[in-house]
Amino acid sequence: MGTVIVAPSVLSADFSDFAGAVREIDAAGAPWIHLDVMDGQFVPNLTFGPKLVADLRPLSRAFFDVHLMTANPDRLIEDFAAAGADQISFHTEAFTHAHRLLERIRELGKKAGLAIVPSTPVCALGELLPFADQILVMTVNPGFGGQTLIPRCLEKVRALARIREERSYRYRIAVDGGVNRETSAAVREAGADVLVTGSAFFLARDKPELLRALQGQIINNKQ
Ligand code: DX5
Ligand code: ZN
Repeated sequence: MGTVIVAPSVLSADFSDFAGAVREIDAAGAPWIHLDVMDGQFVPNLTFGPKLVADLRPLSRAFFDVHLMTANPDRLIEDFAAAGADQISFHTEAFTHAHRLLERIRELGKKAGLAIVPSTPVCALGELLPFADQILVMTVNPGFGGQTLIPRCLEKVRALARIREERSYRYRIAVDGGVNRETSAAVREAGADVLVTGSAFFLARDKPELLRALQGQIINNKQ
């Protein structure tokens, strides 16, 4: 796989200024923007719906990576697709008929991703792997930014990379939660293709420099 993709999450932005957050992400040179959708049911927090994505869409050419942390994700797919999402990931824990939903997302012309929480093993994805464009491995329990990465979850990243190699699958592997200067080397080494970053990005004074550090282009731990 080529260079690691860094996807800053607007979850850690100032919610009174999402447009400014998108400008900051674009100005830093990040190719993806991660949009965390929470419903107060699947996770104990609430964020935003498709209207925000629609309103941000004209402001940026970045790849809009929507992460649904919601119950009943099937009820939201059409609206997020119409709003301008480029990829929609949903949690396998939240929906039984995951294969059907992956196919529906693809029929809408979008990339289809599966997400798993820390307690879900890779074997739970079994038959779904060939149908996903991305597997998003959560390395914190979803709901809030600024938590500490659970190192054991990186074993799942290794397993997903190995399975992809053995079976010639094509999914990207994304890691979400607690990715920062200190943890990013281990995350890349485990085999992640996409690094989601919320708090580390919005706290960084020099954002382009942080992106390079997360990509492994700067070898130091300068804060
Ligand atoms: C957590 C979200 C993450 C979050 C990551 O539930 O899915 O995308 O924004 O934030 P940090 O990087 O602060 O852990
Ligand atoms: Zn996320």
